[in-house]
Amino acid sequence: MGVSFNQVHDKYACVRRSPTEKTMEFFCKTADFNQVKNDTAVAFVSLDKQLDAWTQQLDDACQGDIARLVKNGDLKTEAGSYIWLHPSDKKFARLLLVATGNSQAISEKDARKIIEVVAKNLNASATQSAAIHLDGLNVENRNSEWLSHTLSTQLEYANYRYTTTKPSIKSLPSLTKITLSHSDKTEFNNLKKGMESGLALAKGINIARELGNLPGNICTPTYLAEQAQALAEGNKKLTVKILNTADMKKLGMGSLLSVAAGSNEPPKLIVMEYKGKTTKAPNVIVGKGITFDAGGISLKPGPGMDEMKFDMCGAASVLGVMNTLVAQNAPVHVVAIIAAAENMPSGTATKPGDVVTSMSGQTIEILNTDAEGRLVLCDALTYAERFKPKSVVDIATLTGACVIALGNHASGLFSNNQELADKLLAAGTDTHDRAWQMPLWDDYQKGLDTPFADMANVGGREGGSITAACFLARYTKKYPWAHLDIAGTAWQSGANRGASGRPVALLTHYLLNNA
Ligand code: BES
Ligand code: MN
Ligand code: ZN
Repeated sequence: MGVSFNQVHDKYACVRRSPTEKTMEFFCKTADFNQVKNDTAVAFVSLDKQLDAWTQQLDDACQGDIARLVKNGDLKTEAGSYIWLHPSDKKFARLLLVATGNSQAISEKDARKIIEVVAKNLNASATQSAAIHLDGLNVENRNSEWLSHTLSTQLEYANYRYTTTKPSIKSLPSLTKITLSHSDKTEFNNLKKGMESGLALAKGINIARELGNLPGNICTPTYLAEQAQALAEGNKKLTVKILNTADMKKLGMGSLLSVAAGSNEPPKLIVMEYKGKTTKAPNVIVGKGITFDAGGISLKPGPGMDEMKFDMCGAASVLGVMNTLVAQNAPVHVVAIIAAAENMPSGTATKPGDVVTSMSGQTIEILNTDAEGRLVLCDALTYAERFKPKSVVDIATLTGACVIALGNHASGLFSNNQELADKLLAAGTDTHDRAWQMPLWDDYQKGLDTPFADMANVGGREGGSITAACFLARYTKKYPWAHLDIAGTAWQSGANRGASGRPVALLTHYLLNNA
């Protein structure tokens, strides 16, 4: 008796997943270790000194196995070391023991490492239902709500497999049920709260991954618009407006339209307004949604060109964030704008040297049709003015130069407002979805000078991510603005290529904390 048992999350639902795929259910529970029955148990143990009370209790439950494993050197003491046990005890078929490295509070960095070990191993094992006992895991400056949030997010993250166009995939996890448990009854509400926010976040992240992973022949601008409409269906707090080519012509979006000129796929400007609270000024997020970037007439080289299907990952992150806010019924006012188009070469495509007029009235000489991200974003950023925004953040796989500068760990951050930049940097640090600030000095602006228009769309190879940001800065003078270049962080290249879902966590954290 006195055991709290509550299901806080019904079914995981993604934009597209194969009908054969299993979904995971999450529960939290406050009970003693012995009371939770599942086929797998996970426990955290400190092995640095003498076994603490909790570890001793586990050791007793496994007839002294833990002490023997440590003594024989089979289980290392450092954080993240682990071993699978198959105790004869009938309460569970297997036990995943994870070392914390310290009997006192462990660092957040170690905690993230441990959580990753748990998420990966459970999803790779034959486990169907797992109970994760949090008693032995105490994290410096972080409470059990954080632990529950982070674990739930990472477990869902590790559970995702891309199956939509590969239903034959063999490596689907068997995991269908997770219980987070703690023996301290006062922890129940903390676990539940963390689980709810953690799963809402994971949903947004996995939707962003799925949209990113979908091929360009499925995930078109029209498809992205449909995803936005589907999310708004039946939700009074969310309204969606889709602007088509004719609407954009009327608004004078000559820059955005010039990118779509070579493609048979019609461009879309997707505008979503989520009013979780009826405040004045919304925070606006703007995503680059190039559903395939062939480069246009400035055609990209062949090798690796397939990865330019990921050139809509900014848009995917925006849709992911909106899904998370809706799932959480978040009390925030957010406007999301997606500039969606396909960048292709053809007889109707824009040519190097062509001059177009943007919605702002500024003219642009297009010297390189492969610098198309800034061309779609500038008109979306001008459109954002009508919301009298508190802040505007654009998210874009904008430049290869940013990948050279920062690699795959940090997104590039540029801003005309240091207060906003600091908030985004902090949100990135807090969620481990980190950004690094780059300069946006006027000195870089002259690279965009041309005799034939107000600006050129490229500024040369040097400092390429900065001149791209400088271009956008010319369209964002009327509000606090920041630009996240996610070219290096939005997806992983190579054999294991796939979208990462970044920076959904950063953005969600920022929006929830700055309503
Ligand atoms: N989508 C690309 C940027 C990109 C390239 C992201 C590689 C990730 C990996 C963008 O549209 C682009 O082509 N940028 C050009 C700009 C250049 C022409 C000034 C680039 O980075 O080469
Ligand atoms: Mn390009
Ligand atoms: Zn691009």
